[in-house]
Amino acid sequence: MTRFPDGFLWGTATSAYQIEGAVDEDGRGPSVWDVFSATHGNVRNGDTGAIACDHYHRYPEDIALLSELGVKAYRFSVAWPRVLPEGTGSINPAGLEFYDRLVDAVLAAGIEPWVCLHHWDMPQAIEEQGGWRNRDTPSWFGDYSRVVIEQLKDRVKRFAPVNEPNVVPWVAYAIGAHAPGRRSRADCLAAMHHLNLAHGLTVAAVREAGADLKVGPIISLGPVVPARDDDAHRDAAVMLDCIWRRVMIDPIMLGRYPEPLAGEIAPLVQEGDLAVISAPNDFFGMNHYSRMYAAPDPDNPFGVGDVPPPAGVPTTSMGWQIDPEAFYEQLLEVRDRYGNPELYVTENGAAFPDQADADGRVEDEDRVAFLDGYLRAMHRAIEAGCNVKGYFVWSFLDNFEWAEGYDLRFGLIRVEPDSLRRVPKRSFDFMRSVYRTNALP
Ligand code: GCO
Repeated sequence: MTRFPDGFLWGTATSAYQIEGAVDEDGRGPSVWDVFSATHGNVRNGDTGAIACDHYHRYPEDIALLSELGVKAYRFSVAWPRVLPEGTGSINPAGLEFYDRLVDAVLAAGIEPWVCLHHWDMPQAIEEQGGWRNRDTPSWFGDYSRVVIEQLKDRVKRFAPVNEPNVVPWVAYAIGAHAPGRRSRADCLAAMHHLNLAHGLTVAAVREAGADLKVGPIISLGPVVPARDDDAHRDAAVMLDCIWRRVMIDPIMLGRYPEPLAGEIAPLVQEGDLAVISAPNDFFGMNHYSRMYAAPDPDNPFGVGDVPPPAGVPTTSMGWQIDPEAFYEQLLEVRDRYGNPELYVTENGAAFPDQADADGRVEDEDRVAFLDGYLRAMHRAIEAGCNVKGYFVWSFLDNFEWAEGYDLRFGLIRVEPDSLRRVPKRSFDFMRSVYRTNALP
């Protein structure tokens, strides 16, 4: 038996736009993802988050399932456009009340709520003023964070500012595959710095709100390697590593921007910014999916891109390599480079081509094998001294997988397409037993 340390925090994660639906209800304003997904060609099959898992209405049933799963913690996000429909200004009380009810129900189930303040569903009204390109957005985000923190702080003790601030500039502002779909080097660089500032301003908001509250970033990390062994690919890997990992961790954890982008970002950095960005955090949230293979890409604003893994390696439905060793390496890298912070794996999981039987049941042995392999890698990292304190599976439910719509399913629970009936998969049973025993079989 492979046992985890006593008190290890087991959980699962979701995000607002991916599960809530109810995009027009109770005063919610439009988000960039409503607009982006409504535009033909942006999302597979023309899918949108308009209904998603209808979690907005079905949350009591979902929390009962969380209880059955036996998690100690549940990570979810608050939709900025539900709380501030225009992004700034008037608060929508009905939006806040939804999260009040949700938090109360999570606590009543004996589960610790972990609140991420923003998982990509930016109010469209902010986007119309430049979104993350605009230097005012970080302070608007800080104001929004304060509203949510004030409302929930008597019951929620863990906050994360922005989910994967490293994914947003690259995928949404340089590659253009996520909302708002821009492809510009200058916009991407501005988004990087402003997301870092947004992080720092929310850390400050948490500190003002109370000494019992804890805050930390949630960053998606995996080793970045050249796709081929030549100079052009090695250079591409240095640039992609800087864009993907260093630009969003070094300022937060080390108080400086890394090369080769430091010089280009410098004009955006005002006096005091780095002190705000690098204020100490209480924990480090790491999402992990895959190693990235870097290659030159003349069509990309930075001249680089990530390409599919080598032919023949096992992959998930996302085309991501199944490679627990990459997870192990990444955990050790955070240990060594960033001072072995208190680390929570805030997302890890996989999409597979699930097939339901006549009862809607999915025997997803591929996902079980994936989770087993990754948990063993994490266990080895803990034995190697890595300060991992918890693990959240992505995801609790099959949900709206951004540009991939509903075709790609990451859930421990299947959500049937029309009825939205929830049917736990075999991986649900597997994780339930890990949670109960604090060990791998
Ligand atoms: C991300 C997000 C999640 C995704 C998951 C699978 O990492 O992209 O945090 O919202 O659904 O990662 O792609």
